[in-house]
Amino acid sequence: MYIFKFLLVSGIFLNSAFASDDMLQKMHKMEIGLNKIQKGFLYNQIATIKDGVKDIQEANKVFHNQKETEKYLPKNKMHLSNIAFYSAKSMDMALESLMLYTEQNQMSKSHQAYSKIILSCGSCHSVVRGW
Ligand code: HEC
Repeated sequence: MYIFKFLLVSGIFLNSAFASDDMLQKMHKMEIGLNKIQKGFLYNQIATIKDGVKDIQEANKVFHNQKETEKYLPKNKMHLSNIAFYSAKSMDMALESLMLYTEQNQMSKSHQAYSKIILSCGSCHSVVRGW
């Protein structure tokens, strides 16, 4: 009985202290996407850049609703869900302009949009991690 209670209590604790598997999977997809975009710029491969944008857009869908975004944050950070939500929103806007500039072959502007994407990753992580 004690062991059962211990497992139950530690399960609840672990659940609130760490991000869900689902969230980490999305984040790994974002990382893969970001790496592709970087590689695409470095090697001047447009298709790789576009591929990376799609990965991030796909993973970022979980944050399209503020209530949903709240669910993915650690319990003690839920009240900051609006900041997380707006980081994801500004990331979406930067992804869109990156795609647009890339299509118009304005690669310097496209690269600036890439920097904005990285800033958005950082601003949500600042909230989540208390940086
Ligand atoms: C709206 C919030 C939000 C945005 C935007 C965001 N992340 Fe995250 N990220 C999280 C959360 C929540 C975690 C899990 C908690 C932690 O690691 O502190 C996380 C963790 C991670 C991790 C660590 C995963 C692990 O297994 O430990 C990586 C890598 C990552 N994010 C990549 C990115 C990249 C790349 C971007 C931008 C393209 C990004 N994230 C944008 C919320 C966000």
